[in-house]
Amino acid sequence: MVGDGRGREHGVEERPRRFAFLLHPLRLTDFTGRFRPLRHVPEGMIRFAFRHVPPFKVSTIRGVVSATGARAEGWFLVLPLLPDDLMRAPWPWTLRRLVRAGRLAERLGAEIFGLGAFTKIVGDRGVSVNAALSIPVTTGNSYTAASAVEGALYGVDRMGHERRNVRAAVVGASGSIGAAVSHLVAREVGEVVLVARRREPLERLRERIAADLPPGLPLPSLEVETDVRRAARGADLVFTITSSGDVLLDPDDLAPGSVVCDVARPRNVSDKVLEVRDDVLVIDGGVIAVPGPVDFGFSFGFPPGTAEACIAETMILALEGRLEPFTLGQDIPVARVLEIAALARKHGFRVAGFRRFERAIPEVEVDAVRERARRRRRLPDVADGGDGGRERAGEAPPA
Ligand SMILES: NC(=O)c1ccc[n+]([C@@H]2O[C@H](COP(=O)([O-])OP(=O)(O)OC[C@H]3O[C@@H](n4cnc5c(N)ncnc54)[C@H](OP(=O)(O)O)[C@@H]3O)[C@@H](O)[C@H]2O)c1
Repeated sequence: MVGDGRGREHGVEERPRRFAFLLHPLRLTDFTGRFRPLRHVPEGMIRFAFRHVPPFKVSTIRGVVSATGARAEGWFLVLPLLPDDLMRAPWPWTLRRLVRAGRLAERLGAEIFGLGAFTKIVGDRGVSVNAALSIPVTTGNSYTAASAVEGALYGVDRMGHERRNVRAAVVGASGSIGAAVSHLVAREVGEVVLVARRREPLERLRERIAADLPPGLPLPSLEVETDVRRAARGADLVFTITSSGDVLLDPDDLAPGSVVCDVARPRNVSDKVLEVRDDVLVIDGGVIAVPGPVDFGFSFGFPPGTAEACIAETMILALEGRLEPFTLGQDIPVARVLEIAALARKHGFRVAGFRRFERAIPEVEVDAVRERARRRRRLPDVADGGDGGRERAGEAPPA
């Protein structure tokens, strides 16, 4: 038996914990690819029709088995609304739909309910949905923040940089997700540039990061910057996590071989970067390998056995028996982000690749980006031991 310290005992002999997770289509082809006759129907008509379709169960998820032996199973539910329909709709209407999905989760027997993609970004990020239901709700944003950092650092490794030599820029650092990301990344790299429009919150953040650094870790160089493009141009790793809703970075703003993790929704990185900068690794975050012989019963564009972090957070909480609204609302305390990362490790979840546009990025594509960047920037080969990009920017390699 495995105790969780809260009077709940769970282990191999216990019944699986049950969760439900809410998905929605991200692009029109998610509809037309699955329901082929819809290909001939005008887009406006599809959108209109789906506004009247209630949330429904799309699959049963089986075979989530923790490294502790605890088990979980659950359901994917779908709210058939595209991101812009979700963002534009009046909040009370959207809330009713989200609560309806939550009630379906309750009827199925779920003990915790996770919100996916834009369903956790609209409105008050899960607070009202949680208040209306008898089961707890989580947005998954704590593990999204933790795994964005983990995924981005893995990207830094894959691009051949040495972490301690990396200069990271966090655009939107003073925001709730940005602050959590800044704290985490400051523990891993040599230089961090905290970026936003207002300097004062960034200065306060800089002090908090320095004060909260665990003993024994080297203090990175911490700078404050209000010029987004300047910060990005000098960085090996860029996080974009602002609430601006605008494109803040264009193709010319990024260094060859840099890793860009665009967490913002709407995105802050121009689509043109993907078109014209084949030497930059643009990711949304990490792909998470789920422990056990998991069968999602539904293909959402990830390799078998892997999922997005917000789905993983819901599973982790179910496995741990932490049936509580773990992440809700705007505020994401760093302690929660660190806790979910520790629980992920305990249960055997790990970052196993990269995702972009809610799809996994093939490893060969990452290799190709690295190779092009290496040629343009003279990055070292992985085979040469990866001297961490000391050669870059014209620096002489060590004697
Ligand atoms: N990918 C996901 O799963 C996921 C999940 C949840 C949220 N999100 C997205 O993450 C983003 C951040 O959310 P949050 O809750 O952390 O927001 P937040 O707390 O409101 O913080 C926003 C940050 O952006 C900065 N900012 C706003 N406009 C800017 C601009 N034009 N240039 C530079 N900095 C700017 C703000 O500082 P100043 O005002 O000083 O500039 C602040 O640091 C949003 O886009 C949200 O939709 C994504």
